Amino acid sequence: MMLVESCPQKTWQHVNSARQRGLLTGCVPTMGALHQGHFSLMQRARLDCGFVTATIFVNPTQFGPQEDFSKYPRTLEADLELCRQAGVDLVFTPQTDRMYASDAETTVRVGRLSTVLEGAHRPGHFDGVTTVVTKLLLITQPERAYFGQKDFQQQLIVKRMVRDLNIPTEIVTCPIIRESDGLAMSSRNRYLSSVERQTATSLWGALQLAQHLCGQSQAVPAAVEQQMQQKLLQTAGVELQYAVLADPETLLPLPERVSAGTKAVALIAARVGSTRLIDNQLLTFG
Ligand code: PAF
Repeated sequence: MMLVESCPQKTWQHVNSARQRGLLTGCVPTMGALHQGHFSLMQRARLDCGFVTATIFVNPTQFGPQEDFSKYPRTLEADLELCRQAGVDLVFTPQTDRMYASDAETTVRVGRLSTVLEGAHRPGHFDGVTTVVTKLLLITQPERAYFGQKDFQQQLIVKRMVRDLNIPTEIVTCPIIRESDGLAMSSRNRYLSSVERQTATSLWGALQLAQHLCGQSQAVPAAVEQQMQQKLLQTAGVELQYAVLADPETLLPLPERVSAGTKAVALIAARVGSTRLIDNQLLTFG
């Protein structure tokens, strides 16, 4: 039977007793509005671990003042059903006041990595993420925690944080799950109208173009970037924020020339209507 718990202390106790029974503990942190992408994380955790916790918490500190915190979809009953189907053992779903004391003063901040790309467009966002993820890892004591590649910068930052703070959790990154037309699954896709939903596939189109161009011999990173940007700028209904290639470990820009076999990540953020979407693709230069 799946346990549902809102109390941090009781959650910690459940996990601790599983650890004492010798079970490998895994955690899938989420903000709810679960979809097949989350389901794949929970399935992977179920395969790997003897005791799986999923967390559902719409974390206010990672939303900017003009962002969608109040309208973020909250679908707890459906979420719990999906967790059940994935074979989750425990769902931790706290109230905000149990997560943040009114006089809380502590923030966990990862440096440069948190300030570029998403960090530049969403100031303070990653401080909210790293602070809540630290708290969730402390409460759910996982030996492994599962994050989606969809939030590429987030998983990189969480890995860096865990390493820098000696948090004894291995961060496992799982592949992006896409709709049949290539749109990366996201809780925010449900904001899209049917016309916007069509337009949104252009992000995947631009990533596929980047992948194709990188595969050609002697491809030049700046030229690939430019073509990707052009494709998106020419798409009606897309307001491009960034479309760049970067080093997949550091997120630094690539050198002017790269040798065959160089790894990169193409990262895109764009608004389609009022919905902000991100997507990415790992690449290898040909
Ligand atoms: O990726 C998310 O859903 C959130 O950023 C996370 C990791 C659950 C922290 O609130």
